[in-house]
Parts: sequence; structure tokens; C-alpha cells
Amino acid sequence: MGAARATQTARPDAEPVVGNLVGRMAGGTGQSHPIRFRDRPDSGLGAAQLQRLQAPPFRHGAIQWQNSAMVRLEGVGLQYRPAAGGVPGPAVLSGLSFDVPEGGFRWLLGPSGAGKTSLLRLLHLAVRPTDGRLTILGTEVDHAARHALPALRRRIGMVFQDFRLLPHLVAYDNVALPLRLGGRPEGQIRADVTEMLRWVGLQKKANALPAELSGGEQQRVAIARAVVGRPNLLLADEPTGNLDDIQAERLMVLLHELNRVGTTVIVATHNDALVARHPGDALRLDNGRLLAGG
Ligand SMILES: Nc1ncnc2c1ncn2[C@@H]1O[C@H](COP(=O)(O)OP(=O)(O)OP(=O)(O)O)[C@@H](O)[C@H]1O
Ligand SMILES: [Mg+2]
Repeated sequence: MGAARATQTARPDAEPVVGNLVGRMAGGTGQSHPIRFRDRPDSGLGAAQLQRLQAPPFRHGAIQWQNSAMVRLEGVGLQYRPAAGGVPGPAVLSGLSFDVPEGGFRWLLGPSGAGKTSLLRLLHLAVRPTDGRLTILGTEVDHAARHALPALRRRIGMVFQDFRLLPHLVAYDNVALPLRLGGRPEGQIRADVTEMLRWVGLQKKANALPAELSGGEQQRVAIARAVVGRPNLLLADEPTGNLDDIQAERLMVLLHELNRVGTTVIVATHNDALVARHPGDALRLDNGRLLAGG
């Protein structure tokens, strides 16, 4: 890990064949569900990539599937505690109760400061709730042993609002990071990362450092990194903030297809035009409270 610049060779089968998606639903029957994309060439996602994007079955011994809600909040509240200690600040989230089932899609909407990023940080296990109960992928987070959380977090993909790419790693290595942390073999990593970079249109920038990329390119690297590990839950915080309309639509194709093969997707956005073009269930926050979607 951390090679200054990765040397890669494209696999002969890595051309963007927009073919059948053979997805097995997470925790499902194991049956194949071919989905045809040949008449939608701009979906651009290779068949092999889509197969690998399917969520893995729930076979992690420590984490048992308990109910059909992928995400469940019951009276959840959050107050940030100052890093230096002292009195916790005001509640930035309060009384949040809602479920998002496995394979669900939710927009997360609300004005600036409403608490969207804070809610996504809770769902990504970056902070713990100060009130209520939070269940993620069947694990009640408040009662989970600390050592169980990294494995749980590896099943969650996150596109950060501010990208959070590692500045000393090239695009390829940034995307490869979650796979390497998960201990995947380098051969498999190369195939997945190459195909994911191709999908986001950055195959020629694989060896560029974040500082050498435009804002939109950095955002696409962040998207590739969040998705490459085939998460069961994908959280995206303003993922189109730096994308043009074509790239934003391309992202929506990816999100829809991930969602269709069983990934639960939650997308925070201010992009009203995008939401209008892709109407869906929405969680609406205002001042840390849920106005709709609970
Ligand atoms: N680390 C932190 N410590 C203390 N307060 C915080 C912290 N992060 C966010 N806040 C506060 O929490 C509130 C919600 O912020 P948050 O970033 O969740 O909003 P948001 O809906 O994502 O806004 P935007 O649309 O601008 O991204 C704000 O009042 C913010 O000042
Ligand atoms: Mg935010």
C-alpha cells in the first residue's frame, strides 16, 4: 500500500462491456437476476464490475441479520462534544426515528446546517448518538463491542462532502484503499480498481495525485472509493456538488443500479434539479429534526 505511483495494465476483459448484470441480492436467494443494459450504452458500467458490486451475503459471524431494516433510528439525538472536553454543545440532531429497509433509496434533504452531514456521520459510525438507539446492518451500534465496529464500517461506503482523499496517494491507491484495508488480494484489487476508475472516466488519471485533479475529478475518485468495496450501505454527502450534469446523471445510473442489486443508498443533496429528475422517498431535516420521511 502507499506506492507512490501505481503501474497498471488494463485487463483484456475490462473494456466497458455494458452487458448483463447478474446480481445476487444481499442475503437473498442466490439466484441470478440478469438486467440488460445493452440498449443503455451510456450506463457505462461493465458487466464484470456490476457483478462484483453486488453486496456480499451476510455471513460475517459477529454480525447477524436481525430484521429487514438496514438502518433504524429510534429517538436518536446527537450533541457534539468539544475535542478538548468540557460541556457538550447544543443538540444538532434530535428525536430522529425512521427505518430504511434493505435495498431502500432515500434522498436526504434540508437547508445548510440542518444536520445532513451529522446524520451521515452517525450512520457511518464516525460518531455515536448521544440519545436513542441506532441499528445499522442489523447491529445495534450502542451495544456493539468496539472491536466489531471496523468490520461493520467496512460494509458501509461513504462519499464525503469534502472528498477526504489521502493527498499522498494517487487516484488508483485512494480507490484501492478500502480493498487493501479489507485484506483483498492485489490481483483482485487491480481488476476492481481499474474497472471502477474506467467507469468514472478517470482511467487516464489513475496515477495523478489529488492535488493534480480538478474538483469534479476528485469527487469521482471519492465516489469510486466508496463503491469499489461493494458496500451494503452507501452514504453519499453532496456527491454531485462538483459534477456537471452528465457526470451527475452517470452517478445516478450507478446509484440506481447498486440500489437495484440490493445496496441501501442514502444521498444528501441540495441539487433540486437532480431530485426532480429522479423522484424518490426523501428524509427532510430542518434544524436537526425530521420534517418528513420518518
Ligand atoms: N464537529 C462539530 N462540532 C460541533 N458542531 C458541529 C460539528 N459539525 C457540525 N456541527 C454543527 O451541526 C450543525 C449541522 O451541521 P451539518 O454539517 O450536519 O449540516 P448540513 O445539513 O450537512 O449542512 P450543509 O448543507 O451546509 O452541508 C451545524 O449547526 C454545525 O455548526
Ligand atoms: Mg453537509
